[in-house]
Amino acid sequence: MDLLKPSEKQKLSKTLNAFDLFLFGVGAIIGSGIFVLTGVAAAREAGPALSISFVFAGIVCLFTAFAYAEFSSFVHSAGSAYTYAYRAIGRFAGWITGWCLILAYLLTGAVVAIGWSAYMVDLLRVLGLPFPSKFAHAPYEGGIMNIPAMVIVFLIALLLAKGVKESAWFNHFIVGLKLAVIFLFIFVASRHINLSNWVPFMPFGWKGVMGGAAFIFFAYLGFDAVSTTAEEAKNPGKDLPIGIIGSLVFCTFLYILVGLLLTGVIPYKKLDVKDPVTYALIQVGERFTASIVSVGAIGGITSALLVNMYGQSRIFFAMSRDRFLPPFLEKLHPKFNTPYRIILSSGLIVALLSGFAPIHTVAELTNVGALTAFIMVSVSVLVVRKKNPELNAPFRAPGMPWTGILSIFSCFFLIIHLSLTTILAFIGWLFIGFFLYLFYWDNPSKKKPKQY
Ligand code: ALA
Repeated sequence: MDLLKPSEKQKLSKTLNAFDLFLFGVGAIIGSGIFVLTGVAAAREAGPALSISFVFAGIVCLFTAFAYAEFSSFVHSAGSAYTYAYRAIGRFAGWITGWCLILAYLLTGAVVAIGWSAYMVDLLRVLGLPFPSKFAHAPYEGGIMNIPAMVIVFLIALLLAKGVKESAWFNHFIVGLKLAVIFLFIFVASRHINLSNWVPFMPFGWKGVMGGAAFIFFAYLGFDAVSTTAEEAKNPGKDLPIGIIGSLVFCTFLYILVGLLLTGVIPYKKLDVKDPVTYALIQVGERFTASIVSVGAIGGITSALLVNMYGQSRIFFAMSRDRFLPPFLEKLHPKFNTPYRIILSSGLIVALLSGFAPIHTVAELTNVGALTAFIMVSVSVLVVRKKNPELNAPFRAPGMPWTGILSIFSCFFLIIHLSLTTILAFIGWLFIGFFLYLFYWDNPSKKKPKQY
């Protein structure tokens, strides 16, 4: 095993600096989680203690972010967690991690697109252009299919297929817009705090707070996507840790504030809606601000989708190079130098999921896939440190091995707070992955993935 060996045949261009990566992280993190799922998390799980759920989920992510940052500082590959597990532990661990990431990334894309659709349909209604409800909801939500969600996925896939630099500039603009509306919300909402809304602060006790953390964990997904840019970063050893940890810590503070304000402005029970941020503003008579926030939310969710689909294409790219996905996907576009076949085919799957799947079920399933991949990353760092004590990574995670161990246990702790149906469905997914490995990838008569 050579951890530092570049194993890639096809190379991506190096265009991204530390600031690009920080914004890339913020772009990936802030999306449907804060704009859409916070409402349900507050109303059904945590109550006003939603901000404590954010603190817990943020700490879990921080432990894991250290592991990501350390790995990404010396393994400069687009495969992220998949590549780390493959190189540190072996082929089977790599495959299972990749299999979890396939689930997590495809479903994240779908959840984000569904959230985008909710805000877009709402904005169209305010503008006097109502969109037929049955074409904006999945079959299990009383509709036929979610057309706006499918359309936005296709548009983003086309943009990404065209090239990363253009996408980064588009991302900068939209991240600025999203931060502006979040600060606007914080400023306006802080004038409407009613302290009685915070009493009782923990209506569902600690169980609710932890269930809320397991659900709202979705809002943090994306910091890991920064590591998928490793092959396109100018100075990955320094820039990737800044991008990963910086974006995560920054978003954690924003989330805690938004969680406190949302539940302070209106009673938490009223937040069980798809557009809680604008809904809360409308309830306190801030209609104009609500429309501005809604436009920014659409932009913000778009950037989350963009970065998510970008990260997803890079992981699948790495997996196809290792023959874990059909090799024809590996080909880069002759002019744009992007893995366009992966982008367009995974875009098609995300579009179908977003058109036909209900958001809450999908969000929980995303979380369990991502949490398992996070566990694998932390295990991988511990294994690498044990096997290669001489390895001098440009970034070394502080507090190891304890931060790694805490990451593993805290991710597991969040998993057991998800619903039983989600956990069982995930076990089913793991079984499929296991059989694929056993009967296809590990079969000597079939073409095997490359060895490192
Ligand atoms: N964290 C991202 C979001 O909330 C996936 O949309």
